[in-house]
Amino acid sequence: MAKKPTAPAAPSAATSSGAVSPETVLREPAEKRYADQLEALRQNDTETPPTNWKLSPRSVLTYVIGGKTLKATIGGKSVEVPITRKFFGDDGVVERSIVTLASERALLLVGEPGTGKSWLSEHLAAAICGTSLLTIQGTAGTTEEHIKYSWNIARVIAEGPTAQNMIASPAMIAMKGGALLRFEELTRCVPDVQDALVSILSDKAVAVPELPGDAMVFAKPGFNIIATANTRDQGVNELSAALKRRFNYVYIPIVGDQKTEVKIVQQRSAELLERYNLPAKLSPPVIELLATVFREIRNGKTSDGVSIKKPSTTLSTAEAIGVALDAALHARFFGGGEVGPADIARNMVGAVVKEDQEDKVALKEYATVVAKKRGAKDKSWKEFHDALVEQL
Ligand SMILES: Nc1ncnc2c1ncn2[C@@H]1O[C@H](COP(=O)(O)OP(=O)(O)O)[C@@H](O)[C@H]1O
Ligand SMILES: [Mg+2]
Repeated sequence: MAKKPTAPAAPSAATSSGAVSPETVLREPAEKRYADQLEALRQNDTETPPTNWKLSPRSVLTYVIGGKTLKATIGGKSVEVPITRKFFGDDGVVERSIVTLASERALLLVGEPGTGKSWLSEHLAAAICGTSLLTIQGTAGTTEEHIKYSWNIARVIAEGPTAQNMIASPAMIAMKGGALLRFEELTRCVPDVQDALVSILSDKAVAVPELPGDAMVFAKPGFNIIATANTRDQGVNELSAALKRRFNYVYIPIVGDQKTEVKIVQQRSAELLERYNLPAKLSPPVIELLATVFREIRNGKTSDGVSIKKPSTTLSTAEAIGVALDAALHARFFGGGEVGPADIARNMVGAVVKEDQEDKVALKEYATVVAKKRGAKDKSWKEFHDALVEQL
């Protein structure tokens, strides 16, 4: 196990295209990170995009689900740009989302935490209107001003309310530009605040009574809202009937099959490790083991049909990516660099056992009932079992 750690790789000088360099920004927005792919899709678009959309609906779909390689001229050079898959799962979900965004209604992505709702929303916004940054994060402290507008108080005192002294919210900026507003965790906002959206969605305008002459800000074509909500928070602040009617609900399920989950964890952890300037050494068998453990504990049933305890936390794909990344960092800093089943086990406990210590029991049961038995025949499972038991 104790191999000599190799020195971390020197930071690569190469930067992906776009104005923001990965060396100065920890996380680039999708429209910067995938600027080449978006540009290639634009150059190859054969259909007319809806008003103020950057791409046609078909190209937006291709951007999200990937699977094509396009010829394009980027930076004066003729290149082939592979379009990668961003969102894994049912392509019908993506199609319905795109159709909704072109319609009168707004889009609400609902599902368990960590199923990729924010991820999908970011990519849709990036592909459709070129920016994913017009975002409101819904919290218990979100106020109507965050949704509509506020004022530069000092200047209002000095000069009175004028259009220049108004601070537009991301929603208002999106309306003026015919862009998409992302509203994260909509159901965390109190009902009064949610209701501020009703007028925006039905009138497609915001009145500013403080300004002289009954000023109104009207939305341009292309304006729409992509909201997300966690099913676990549903009880917090249910959407009012008025608002429900103005949203199309698209349910995002937890990834159903193991193969897809392995692919997501593989691709996303490789991308994230690149961000940390660490060469990815997550081998497919290790990711498969991680995905198997997650799937079995999440379902409360092993692949051989044995019932096991389920923990209270949702073990989403996002959690699996987190464990893979932690395990890789752990192996890199304190091990030999190669991620083994033991690294997965060590970083697994924190993902499963959160606020409820009872969940430890579920993990213990999994170790003794499932992992130990498999360990008798398989070296990887033995390593996993031994390291897991040590942590519990
Ligand atoms: N179906 C999926 N396809 C691609 N990535 C996914 C998927 N599900 C989860 N992820 C990954 O999990 C991470 C967290 O997802 P996020 O969008 O924040 O979840 P949510 O908003 O549903 O709570 C993202 O980095 C994303 O890459
Ligand atoms: Mg989210």
